[in-house]
Amino acid sequence: MLNGRGEEMIVDLQAVCEIIEKHGYQKASLIGILQDIQAKMNYLPRKALVQVAKSLDIPLTHIYEVATFYKAFSLEPKGRHTIQVCLGTACHVRGGARVLNYLENRLDVKSGETTQNLSFTLENVNCLGACALGPMMVIDKKYYGKINPKKIESILEKYQ
Ligand code: FES
Repeated sequence: MLNGRGEEMIVDLQAVCEIIEKHGYQKASLIGILQDIQAKMNYLPRKALVQVAKSLDIPLTHIYEVATFYKAFSLEPKGRHTIQVCLGTACHVRGGARVLNYLENRLDVKSGETTQNLSFTLENVNCLGACALGPMMVIDKKYYGKINPKKIESILEKYQ
């Protein structure tokens, strides 16, 4: 896997082996192993999945089936911070789409993508359960309401 600068990303296979060992080399622990790898590396690198396949004697194709079935897993590198912009009805009428558009231009990514420097992953969601405060944005589970471009700039400064 290449990062945004076209460099090969280094995968800590020692850490992967330790995770597999912690789970006792149990095939039944596959999801737990993948969760731990994702928690450590922020995504599931191919090299790590190959190591899991070898260590557990599971076909790599089966591991990919599991990894792609669960939305919590990512096969692409994720940013250190995840920004979610709400496009639910209440936020939409209050300018949610404009907020998303502003962030796409500001970060030079589309929704679902990660910035080249791996700082941010931008996503859109349907309702964050705080409709009265729309438009809503969440960064790493911290909620920001009634946002606008000016507010976004001061919020992003905290995460640079
Ligand atoms: S529609 Fe955005 S929080 Fe509910």
